[in-house]
Parts: sequence; structure tokens; C-alpha cells
Amino acid sequence: MNQDKLKQSVAQAAVDYTLTRINGDSIVGIGTGSTANFFIDLLAPHRGKFAGTVASSAASEERLRGHRIPVYELNAVDDVAIYIDGADETNPQLELIKGGGAALTREKIVAAVAREFVCIADQSKWVDHLGVYPLPIEVIPMARSHVARELVKLGGDPVYRQGVITDNGNVILDVYRLHPISPVRDLEEKINNITGVVTNGLFALRPADILLLANEDGVKTITA
Ligand code: 5RP
Repeated sequence: MNQDKLKQSVAQAAVDYTLTRINGDSIVGIGTGSTANFFIDLLAPHRGKFAGTVASSAASEERLRGHRIPVYELNAVDDVAIYIDGADETNPQLELIKGGGAALTREKIVAAVAREFVCIADQSKWVDHLGVYPLPIEVIPMARSHVARELVKLGGDPVYRQGVITDNGNVILDVYRLHPISPVRDLEEKINNITGVVTNGLFALRPADILLLANEDGVKTITA
């Protein structure tokens, strides 16, 4: 099975799971990326079964609206029942690296609000220790060089993601050579404390609650 087929199968499993967790008043949080896009497309036929969505990026918002699925501003809703999103890496503790699509800040905010965070991934995202995938950091543009120097002090090798401006008007540094990241929470906190950092792509202080992981044999449900 190719990777897109795996992404599609895990997205279908996430739709089935979501339908067991929502009612007509529920708001569903929607992630960003190709796996989240499959989820949006497969959720569309069920649009009448929940009140609407909040989106973690302008791209996901546009796709949702294309399917005539209501999209609300996060500030306009009291509760997000469930948040479904992909990841670039996940470890067995369901700590994640996210931000390959540069949407990490809004993703982290929606994950913080959601009562339940379901990560959807294919087997290629599963690792024992995070950090082979370069860690994305969203940075205020004028702080880019300062933040890069501080990341070097932490042992990383930051690379400016050329030509990318986030939905929040900021830039991305991708940090190499951090593998193996341990303990993940400590590094998440240290990077958060660098002045000029908006968000880093480690999701360990708020990990996923459930991982749906697709491989050739089907979709496994994993909890930490
Ligand atoms: C976007 C993300 C995505 O969830 C992550 O990059 C995975 O993407 P894909 O589902 O396309 O493999 O964090 O910022």
C-alpha cells in the first residue's frame, strides 16, 4: 500500500472514531497537512452531524469551506470536543514533532483547547526517539538570527525555511541534529523560553491522547 493509501485509511478510521465522540452541538478541531486533508474530505458527507469546526490553518479553513462545512473562529466557541491532526513524528509516549506544514502555532492552540487530541499518522511517522525530522520553530522575523544563535547553544543546527511566511506573519527555522530528543518536555520548555520564539513543534507538554497509526495490516489505536 502506498503512503497516500495509508493516510486515507487512517483518516477514515478517524472519521469513524470522531462520529462516536460528537453530537449535533459539537465543534471539531481540524489539523493541517495531507493526512488532515483526507480527514476533511471523508468528514464532509457527515457535515450535518456536528455544529461546525475550528481550523488550524487558512489552508484547512479553505478546504472545509469548499465542502460547505461551517468554520468558526476559536474565540467564538466555548468548547472543542475533539481535535484531529497529523504529525511529522510520534514516539510511544505520543509526544510529537509537528510543523512540517508551518501551521504549528495554530495547531498547538487548538490542541490546547480540545478535550481530546487524536493524532493520525502512517507507520513512517513512528519513531522510538524524536528528532530525526528537523524540529520546526515559528519565530518573530526580527528575532530570527538571535533565536538561531540560541538554538546552536542548545546543540541544534537551525536552517531558515526560505520563502515561507506562516499564517501569523512569522518565519520558520528547522532545527537539525537534535536527535535523540530526551526528555522531550525539557527541550520544549527551553525553546519556548527563547525570546522571539512564538512556538516550537514539540508537542510533549500537551501530547496526543490517542494515536491512530496505519500500516499494511490496518489501523492500530495506541494510547500512551
Ligand atoms: C503541519 C503539520 C502536519 O500535521 C504534519 O506536517 C504532517 O503532515 P502530513 O499529514 O502531510 O504528513 O504539523 O504543520
